[in-house]
Amino acid sequence: MNQMLDELSEILIQTRAQVAKVIIGQALPVDLSLIAIFTNQHVLVEGVPGVAKTLLVKTLAHTLGAQFKRIQFTPDLMPSDIIGTNIFNLQRNEFNFVPGPVFTTFLIADEINRAPSKTQSALLQAMQERQVTVDRTTYDLSANFTVFATQNPIEYEGTYALPEAQKDRFMLKIRMNVPDREEELNLAERMLGDDAPESALSRGSVETVMSESTLSRLRAALNQVLVKPELIAYLVDIVRATRKHDSVLVGAGPRATQALLLASRAHAALNGRDYVTPDDVRVLVQPILEHRVVLRPEFEIEGAEIVPIVRQILEKIPVPR
Ligand SMILES: Nc1ncnc2c1ncn2[C@@H]1O[C@H](COP(=O)(O)OP(=O)(O)O)[C@@H](O)[C@H]1O
Ligand SMILES: [Mg+2]
Repeated sequence: MNQMLDELSEILIQTRAQVAKVIIGQALPVDLSLIAIFTNQHVLVEGVPGVAKTLLVKTLAHTLGAQFKRIQFTPDLMPSDIIGTNIFNLQRNEFNFVPGPVFTTFLIADEINRAPSKTQSALLQAMQERQVTVDRTTYDLSANFTVFATQNPIEYEGTYALPEAQKDRFMLKIRMNVPDREEELNLAERMLGDDAPESALSRGSVETVMSESTLSRLRAALNQVLVKPELIAYLVDIVRATRKHDSVLVGAGPRATQALLLASRAHAALNGRDYVTPDDVRVLVQPILEHRVVLRPEFEIEGAEIVPIVRQILEKIPVPR
């Protein structure tokens, strides 16, 4: 394997190990987060309160040597509350820019569906351009700026559901489920034993495995991961099949194909390989398609959801060998 790719795989494996000192279970959410971070994309995170959404991002930031901020979205949140604003300085008789919380590396945007669309748009624009413009001056954000936007599944649509076109800007959707019984027992024991997961972070027992500047350098290594033409055709066919499925009103667009390709390469690297396998693609299909596919209302009422649709699509398309 190429030397830089080796280094990347090594860092990913170390990161998983450090994160596991804090986060119990949640293996797929951890991997999906790493995939988004190392492909320079953004993620939607769905899960009820208390499943460690915030703690996961905090732990990843610490492990990867990155800055971290959080914004709670509310109905009265203004675009300037997130991107920043010019404030008049009386002493100096001039306006000074006060940067908003987007000036960070990892940003957790909690309950994004609670803020009006103007504020959501400001965030989405910052995500896409990695810069913000305030009073005609443009400021660059971190090249590694990564948004983790959370949604609570109970009030899923919320007051201001994200429009489909905007959801498409998120590479994938991470579902964080409640821990299973064994994991919850483990969590309960740690809390009783004065070893709460978050205290591993504050005690300093979680190591920082790299610096933020390493991230951009290692990211380039993903270009070395081979995707055979049959596999490219395979993932194109999967995305195209969403547009023809009976239960689907609007299928996934070409951004889904691109996301699936990039994410599959990162998933291969995460598993120490310099080539993509059909399984890399298959595990990513649901997280990548879920928020991009609009189901027909009549099917939605019957409780149809993405899981069986993904299963049917994967069953129908021959797996390349
Ligand atoms: N899988 C888990 N691993 C470790 N701690 C967990 C886990 N699930 C819940 N917790 C505990 O629950 C707390 C709440 O987590 P938090 O990140 O604030 O949740 P959320 O952001 O999803 O509402 C954590 O600080 C931790 O003590
Ligand atoms: Mg939280």
